[in-house]
Amino acid sequence: MPTLFDDIEKVLITKDELQTRIAALAAEMNAIYDDDDLPMLVCILKGAFMFLADLTRHLDFRHEIDFMEISSYGSGTTSGSVRILLDLASDITGRNIIIVEDIVDTGNTLTYILKNFTARGPASVRVATLLSKPSRREVDVAVDFVGFEVPDEFVMGYGLDYAQQYRTITRPNCCTTCTARPTAAIITCSSRRAWPRNTSNTSARCNRIRR
Ligand code: IMP
Repeated sequence: MPTLFDDIEKVLITKDELQTRIAALAAEMNAIYDDDDLPMLVCILKGAFMFLADLTRHLDFRHEIDFMEISSYGSGTTSGSVRILLDLASDITGRNIIIVEDIVDTGNTLTYILKNFTARGPASVRVATLLSKPSRREVDVAVDFVGFEVPDEFVMGYGLDYAQQYRTITRPNCCTTCTARPTAAIITCSSRRAWPRNTSNTSARCNRIRR
């Protein structure tokens, strides 16, 4: 019986590497912002929820958080149709905003978000993304804080999904009683076309893979 782990090709970024880099990104932010700025971190759901949670635990300055859910690939195989599924609860006029993204791929989603935010009159907008795939970029979009540049491979885990699954996938540890399982690794799937192998949800299968 195949398991979720059969779908993992490799661990791209380990839990320790993630946490070390996220702490470094927070340090960069701590050097820029102080309490008077009272930045608002806007988590782009759903993929960035783990990144936001770990990032904010390292921030020294007073800040607020809000959430926005974006659908990038509703029905097609291109990233052209971006829409807001859940809007901000807060008024961001005059606020210092830090957008927290999971991954910038083509850049179309982030471009849409930035345009939308700019129209609301914030004092400043910066962008933090855990991952970036520069080789896939279709639009030139500025990102202020980048966790890792990754190759053109489909990644999942640590909040990133494939067809709404695999967000919390972990690779089995060699020690069955170990409490320090690698619960937060970024992984890549084994084959874009034949994947995931252990689900019959074929309608979901191709919507997120656009090549
Ligand atoms: P973009 O508009 O092409 O930059 O896509 C951004 C969104 O696509 C991200 O916020 C993710 O939700 C999703 N995405 C792009 N590449 C991947 C990937 O490799 N794994 C999981 N989600 C991805």
